[in-house]
Amino acid sequence: MSDTILVTGGAGFIGSNFLLHWLATERTPLINLDKLTYAGNLRNLESISTDRRYTFVHGDIGDRKLVRQILRDHRPRAIVHFAAESHVDRSIRGPDDFIKTNVNGTFSLLEEARTYWMELPEIERRGFRFQHVSTDEVYGSLGPDDAPFHEKTRYEPNSPYSASKAASDHLVRAYHHTYKLPVLTTNCSNNYGPFQFPEKLIPLMILNAHHGTQLPVYGDGKNVRDWVYVGDHCEAVRAVLAGGRVGETYNIGGNNQKPNVDVVETICSLMDELSPNDPVVPHRQLITFVQDRPGHDRRYAIDTTKIEQELGWKPRETFETGLRKTVRWYLDHMEWVTEVTSGAYRQWIATQYSVSGE
Ligand code: NAD
Ligand code: TYD
Repeated sequence: MSDTILVTGGAGFIGSNFLLHWLATERTPLINLDKLTYAGNLRNLESISTDRRYTFVHGDIGDRKLVRQILRDHRPRAIVHFAAESHVDRSIRGPDDFIKTNVNGTFSLLEEARTYWMELPEIERRGFRFQHVSTDEVYGSLGPDDAPFHEKTRYEPNSPYSASKAASDHLVRAYHHTYKLPVLTTNCSNNYGPFQFPEKLIPLMILNAHHGTQLPVYGDGKNVRDWVYVGDHCEAVRAVLAGGRVGETYNIGGNNQKPNVDVVETICSLMDELSPNDPVVPHRQLITFVQDRPGHDRRYAIDTTKIEQELGWKPRETFETGLRKTVRWYLDHMEWVTEVTSGAYRQWIATQYSVSGE
């Protein structure tokens, strides 16, 4: 077995932040297996593309022959599994790909990992890890006074996305329980930061504000999310990989519960300051309440006691520092934005907001 880590979905938002941070701070090699769906972008990884420790493989986690070959050739000591379909609104419009990748894809990956792991010599078997990156959305929706989600909260997924992630979490759990595969699972709250595809709330609002187009807030805007900066999430994944107890799950969150409309207002204030020559200023004039998302979860919140106490992890960024960095990053990377907001992106925005918008 080598020191290598196999990362899936490394060309996406969180995966690319993870790879960049890893190679900036560690010596060990990484392989990135990514299908390059609309959400995967190799431009995110340009700065490491010639690094000898980095290998990119274009392919599907559901391609068992390919995964088998990668495991045989590179003999990784761990798999860190980010690859997924990740956008709730898309899962409502078209759930098929969510089942294919998140459920069947994770199953295939687990099967190949199990075969590979079983054939390792005893000592290497003990060191191997399958780390599954999941979401807090598997726990369902909280009322305003409910206690935050903890690792024993019952699963109650409400969207095709969260149901598909819940299914994958259960498979990972079962592979540990039944076959003793050394798994770790993390359930994280909403991320934000550089390289997030602009279909998600924060980058969508930054870019619309910049262009002077409406800021579509679903329903009454009072749905609450617990925002964590992507760099903090990546550090938590690494802390769990390094020291997490096999078979355990760890919840990750930013201790930043915010109603959506407050998030959008804060983005508008930052944009007034950082991009004062935009077509519509003050930017908050663009806020438009639109038809709600079907089955929209009201509130998510995360209790991070376990990861803090066991592994000493804590988020470094406050919402204020993280959001300021994020707004600046988008304003400084408009060529990245232009590249990812291709024809297919414009088609998505037109379909999504002409039906749900007012
Ligand atoms: P993303 O949509 O930005 O990226 C997903 C990546 O996976 C893309 O590069 C895509 O090309 C790749 N991919 C998709 N299907 C694939 C397949 N079949 N085979 C290989 N590669 C495939 O997602 P993200 O926001 O970076 O999320 C990464 C992981 O973290 C997901 O598992 C998601 O459920 C989880 N998560 C995300 C958040 C969040 O706020 N974004 C929060 C908690 C957990
Ligand atoms: P999103 O970024 O899609 O993440 P998730 O659904 O996984 O939490 O959405 C975050 C919150 O913002 C969610 O409550 C839905 C809301 N939202 C809007 O109000 N308007 C939008 O245009 C989008 C994309 C999301």
